[in-house]
Amino acid sequence: MSADLSPQVHVFPDPKALSSAAAEAFLALSLEVISSSGRFAVALSGGSTPRRFFTLLASSPYQQSIDWTRIHLFWADERCVPADHPESNFKLLHDTLLAHVPVPEANVHRVHGEADPEQAAREYEREIRSFFINGEMPSFDLIFLGVGEDGHTASLFPGSPSIHEKARIVVPVYLAGPSLNRVTLTLPVINHAAHVIFLATGRSKSDVLHNILKEGNSQAYPAGLVRPEAGTLTWFLDQEAAEKSDGQASSPNALP
Ligand code: 6PG
Repeated sequence: MSADLSPQVHVFPDPKALSSAAAEAFLALSLEVISSSGRFAVALSGGSTPRRFFTLLASSPYQQSIDWTRIHLFWADERCVPADHPESNFKLLHDTLLAHVPVPEANVHRVHGEADPEQAAREYEREIRSFFINGEMPSFDLIFLGVGEDGHTASLFPGSPSIHEKARIVVPVYLAGPSLNRVTLTLPVINHAAHVIFLATGRSKSDVLHNILKEGNSQAYPAGLVRPEAGTLTWFLDQEAAEKSDGQASSPNALP
């Protein structure tokens, strides 16, 4: 693991190679952290990008090589829907991974998306704080994030007051129109993680990635405000997502 805390960008030829690298990073970091602290606390995101990564984790060699009984799963954000709803981030992870690996039920720290958003946010914050009993600000071992075409990450959207939240580590996000309300981790806790890895694929992300990864513009986007204070920040992009950021396919097995 590199001690260099400046953001690293790794470009992979396609989403398949990117997903393999994400699974390798999960395995390598989980081995390292479990050997030193006995458990591995990881927060995952929803959306379409991580689906292949989750499915890989549920298959050989990751299914057998990861000590699932020591893994604690959290969510970077959740949509406010019941756990069996097609838009539920819990359901995505359940169907692709949890149904296939022996993670103890007590290690699955889900957001109660079916509850009132404010209540769900407060309960989730309590759950996280009681898990990380040491210190004022919980420190996840690893957070996987995605990025939207508008530069949002988790459910931190451009222009939303949640971006400026300093005290709470989880907030509800009320969205207009037909969009589903959300519950999201906030920047203070994301930026207190030991490792953050963004996964982004596809040409539709290339403009925003160009803006975020280009020094000077990053602060205009929630995803660009992710900058772990004492942890690593790594971007895993596929060739299409990187095409406007001068990205070249490199080191397919790169780890953060
Ligand atoms: C969610 C997210 C969200 C996601 C991005 C990228 O639940 O919607 O956690 O931040 O990561 O919107 O989504 P895609 O992978 O679908 O492009």
